Amino acid sequence: MECKDSDYSDRMYNPTMIENLKTPQKSENTVWHQASISRTQRETLNGHRSAIIWFTGLSGSGKSTLAHAVEQELYEVGCHTFVFDGDNVRHGLCGDLGFTEEDRTENIRRIGQMSRLFVDAGVLALTAFISPFNVDRQRVRMMVENENDFIEVYCRCPLDVCENRDVKGLYKRARKGEISNFTGISSPYEEPDNADLVVDTDQMTLDDCVGKVVALLTKRSIIYP
Ligand code: ADX
Repeated sequence: MECKDSDYSDRMYNPTMIENLKTPQKSENTVWHQASISRTQRETLNGHRSAIIWFTGLSGSGKSTLAHAVEQELYEVGCHTFVFDGDNVRHGLCGDLGFTEEDRTENIRRIGQMSRLFVDAGVLALTAFISPFNVDRQRVRMMVENENDFIEVYCRCPLDVCENRDVKGLYKRARKGEISNFTGISSPYEEPDNADLVVDTDQMTLDDCVGKVVALLTKRSIIYP
């Protein structure tokens, strides 16, 4: 069964849900402790701004490959970076979560909060998660202080190309019905409608994709030439 975005339109546009995104969640009887070293001080020490660079796209669209290649380039010019990769994070922090809508939402919430802490730490956090739902990505965008703290990069690649690549053999298993809720096959992927950058990973070389991301970070004054 191919899922259509329209099946999930309530989820995307429900005003109560959007309003709830603005309400921060916290445990009872807790008080925020202000750090004595500010984010700006950390950024000054590091010589670049911090931000979340959020790669989204189908499984097999090249998110992890691109995130790691961008990190390599940034590392070589002395930037402080870290990559959060969907498969890796699901080995630990999010190892208790599956692939239902609710679990994916919780997965992205945790990663969003974790990445946000990395922004406070003055680091460039690169994340590679399918993150199939607009509302979940939007929630992360709303967690950060400034417009330039969240850069959404859509790794656009047609389903048939991802399926042909099938690097992990999961599409084949999903088609046979061995894996439920598989993105693109039996669970939807909502294309971003306001991505900061779209890279067509089936048409561009990896180097070109890296170049586009780095150019955007420079243009937004997150890193300096
Ligand atoms: S997300 O939807 O919650 O953002 P995430 O990026 O963490 O997903 O994990 C996706 C990875 O988990 C895929 O690259 C794939 O290796 C693996 N995976 C296992 N089951 C599924 C599934 N049902 N749908 C998509 N990916 C799956």
